[in-house]
Amino acid sequence: MRKNIVAGNWKMNNTFQEAEELISVIADELDEKDLQCEVIVCPPSIYLEMASDYGEESILSIAAQNVSGYDNGAYTGEVSASMLEAMGISYSIVGHSERRKYFNETDAQLAEKVDRLLDYNMKPIFCIGELLEEREAGNHFNIVESQLEKGLFHLNKDEFLNVVVAYEPVWAIGTGVVATPEQAQEMHSFIRGLITKKYGVDIAEDTTILYGGSCNASNASTLFANKDVDGGLIGGASLNADDFIKIIESF
Ligand code: PGA
Repeated sequence: MRKNIVAGNWKMNNTFQEAEELISVIADELDEKDLQCEVIVCPPSIYLEMASDYGEESILSIAAQNVSGYDNGAYTGEVSASMLEAMGISYSIVGHSERRKYFNETDAQLAEKVDRLLDYNMKPIFCIGELLEEREAGNHFNIVESQLEKGLFHLNKDEFLNVVVAYEPVWAIGTGVVATPEQAQEMHSFIRGLITKKYGVDIAEDTTILYGGSCNASNASTLFANKDVDGGLIGGASLNADDFIKIIESF
């Protein structure tokens, strides 16, 4: 049975006090609810220890926004999967389009990051998605296929079972221009088809595929109603507790 997930990607936002206030409100509110999805919060790495304490006392899972592709050692500024795992962090986002664009992360580096997470029994939330010009040129399916093949399809079946895929069309991220439910369903079903071809129908049916990009409290329910959309990776709207909770309740 595949899991529905709503994950909040805080990106590089919030002071420590704001971050703690936000996570404590979310944890408290969710405590009283009958949830139809797993809820993940992805704070900046410097807040992960604080967040992990809230995670332990609530139903929240905590994710890092990034992880090193190296194991451990002389890599100044990096945070390793072993460090995250030791702190009780269960997931990490990998390959967000902002990291691909601003930090020049390549498909090969992203595949390394996926491997390091799996080495430590952590789960990658692997982001894929096309640029506006790629969609306009009719290349969106090819781009997404290539990102999946290069970043994930080196995994064997058992490893792949730990992966969450997030389809995030780059033109929808932070722009207020959300994909239509039809565009999201079309791409999610394409992605599930590729996973079926590579790993078989059972694994494909068990894989959670999230949608990300201007998903908010008003449009989440029409997106999540699609049969291949198993939840969302939420940026801006996850910084407001009421909006984030409305999205969580959209199933
Ligand atoms: P957004 O970001 O919801 O602010 O568009 C989504 C993301 O980048 O994961």
